[in-house]
Amino acid sequence: GGRIIDWDGPMQQIDSPVEIRRNGSLEPVRLGSCPQLDAQAGLAAVEAVRQAWDHGMGLWPTLSVADRISRVEAFTGRMIEKREAIVRLMMWEICKPLDECRVEFDRTVEYIRDTVDALKDLDRASSRFVIEKGIYAQIRRAPLGPTLCMGPYNYPLNETFATLIPALLMGNPVILKPPRLGRLLYVPLMEAFRDCFPAGVVNVVFGGRSMVGPIMASGIISVLAFIGSSDAASALRKAHPNPNQLRCILGMGAKNPAIVMKSADMELAVAECAAGSLSFSGQRCTALKILFVHEDRLDEFVERFVDAVAAMPMGMPWKDGVRITPLPEPGKCTYLGMLVSDAIAHGARVVNAGGGQSGGSLFHPAVLSPVNADMLVYHEEQFGPVVPIVPFRDMATPVNYMVESPFGQQLSIFSDDPKEVAGLVDPLVNQVCRVNINCLCQRGPDTFPFTGRKDSAEGTLSVGDALRCFSIRTLVAAKGT
Ligand code: G3H
Repeated sequence: GGRIIDWDGPMQQIDSPVEIRRNGSLEPVRLGSCPQLDAQAGLAAVEAVRQAWDHGMGLWPTLSVADRISRVEAFTGRMIEKREAIVRLMMWEICKPLDECRVEFDRTVEYIRDTVDALKDLDRASSRFVIEKGIYAQIRRAPLGPTLCMGPYNYPLNETFATLIPALLMGNPVILKPPRLGRLLYVPLMEAFRDCFPAGVVNVVFGGRSMVGPIMASGIISVLAFIGSSDAASALRKAHPNPNQLRCILGMGAKNPAIVMKSADMELAVAECAAGSLSFSGQRCTALKILFVHEDRLDEFVERFVDAVAAMPMGMPWKDGVRITPLPEPGKCTYLGMLVSDAIAHGARVVNAGGGQSGGSLFHPAVLSPVNADMLVYHEEQFGPVVPIVPFRDMATPVNYMVESPFGQQLSIFSDDPKEVAGLVDPLVNQVCRVNINCLCQRGPDTFPFTGRKDSAEGTLSVGDALRCFSIRTLVAAKGT
């Protein structure tokens, strides 16, 4: 509950990644401060969640579905009252365009409502009595136990709530660690967490690795619900004393390709590839991170793509219609610059004017062509505004890329030939979990399953599916006479 309110340890000052000009000089934007919990405070959250899981102490795991829903709905009402404060903090902290911050907030509210509806359906379908071979049984969906929810900076509210809400609705008490960037927006929610949920059910912990490590090492966590890099997920899993007893629900890395066939409608392919690779400056796990373009259409594609990128407004996140905004991760521009230099050293060109230049935390999108497997950008998940274009003649090039990739989330195919598409879909869908035809890759609509193969995901984070991931089917059985 309201641990933040009682914390009297160190507070961390949070500044925006952007500075503003005042009286002719650049000044930091001081957003506020939040606690920086230490290992001991992390262990206090462990104790709180342990007590909430103990049926004698906390009622949450045994509360009726209707009661849990009404608490979540009360919380949602309180959250909506804070919409503008949350949206503004999000914009300042991660530099997401203001209109997209509002979309993220509203999408989260819709996700909660749809998940509540899905739970009502699931509950109706799963709490029936059955009789089989003389055994009467009531099969129920039960919670799994204390859950650690950690979301990423690029969707600091939405993707944390995509684990928090189904975990809570299924009866699991939660430790919620806000992302390192995008944590301040949790402060306006603290009172609502405290008022709407019993003590120990939602434990918001602001802190870093030195706090999370001991939480995992305590062994209390039954479910790790994490969205972020594959390396961080594996470090968290290893920190648990019994990783085999840990249920992991993970959304991790991806390097989704677009495959632009010779027959593609170029106008459509370019528009979708530009939005797919550069919305929120490429900082989406679902972003198109490598574009395979048929050699016969390469020049036409590059020319149009460069124009589409040039037409994307770049600037501060509060400006109307802006699409390319400053990058909040420290050192990101340096990393992207290194990828560009490496590609140039191996024979690629930056084909758009100004591409790859940076000023402060603003990185001008770099379109690289021709890219090949000798370059780092062919392999690494850039998670930023760098777009590698790989010419191909033979389908073996993109297919081998997918087969060898450590990831398997989604891909997009652009083709105007239905027969060609029909022939490609079956083999490709066995490499990923979603094939998009003539459109970009994306997670939504949130009622569609969202998952991935290989190092991209474990479990399915979407309305309905997530409820199943955060629960286990149990039964009460008796012999009939
Ligand atoms: O960053 C990963 C998100 O799951 C992407 O979601 O496709 O709705 O932008 P999105």
